[in-house]
Amino acid sequence: SSIDSTNARAKELAQGGAVHGTLVIAEEQTSGRGRLGRSWVSPAGMGIWMSLILRPSFLPRNASRVTVITALAVTDAIDKITGLTADIKWPNDIIINSRKVCGILTEIQADPDTIEYLVVGIGLNVNTPRDAFPEELSQSASSLFMESGVKVERNILLAGILDSFERIYNKYEETESFTAIMDDYKAQCITSNKR
Ligand code: BTN
Repeated sequence: SSIDSTNARAKELAQGGAVHGTLVIAEEQTSGRGRLGRSWVSPAGMGIWMSLILRPSFLPRNASRVTVITALAVTDAIDKITGLTADIKWPNDIIINSRKVCGILTEIQADPDTIEYLVVGIGLNVNTPRDAFPEELSQSASSLFMESGVKVERNILLAGILDSFERIYNKYEETESFTAIMDDYKAQCITSNKR
């Protein structure tokens, strides 16, 4: 129900041998972490705060592809389940109407040629009301509820994200071809060809 950070917990579990596909999910994070040492606001019952443990067969230099796959899976699920159009801001922000609704934090433990484990953390603001964000985020952050005016069933969205992720991830692991995935990413990426 409450945890410091699902990414921190997932890394502990992975270190202890947790299997590929293990999911850590919490109602609330008290020290949610973002990229570049930032914090991630994760109030109780309003969003999806989760971390997936993966043990990929591909090389560490391709680990960032998991962020691309995750961004695509999240936008796909948002589009299908809410009808909202979500875009990607390189490399890992999900944007609706110019405001960030979701961030992805990918962390790896690897030797030079083998990934021991990878943790992909997803923070998605689902039913967060405007006043739950601190003042400094009021212009840049948003939630699906704020953009649509409709509350979204988090379980349904969670299942949709995992379903899309599994489909795209498995296709990549089986074929080792990233071209089609990158084409889909580029089509959704609003920062392409921009400074
Ligand atoms: C970012 O945009 O900076 C990435 C934000 C990632 C937040 C998620 S919430 C679930 C997981 N646990 C964390 O502590 N962070 C990620």
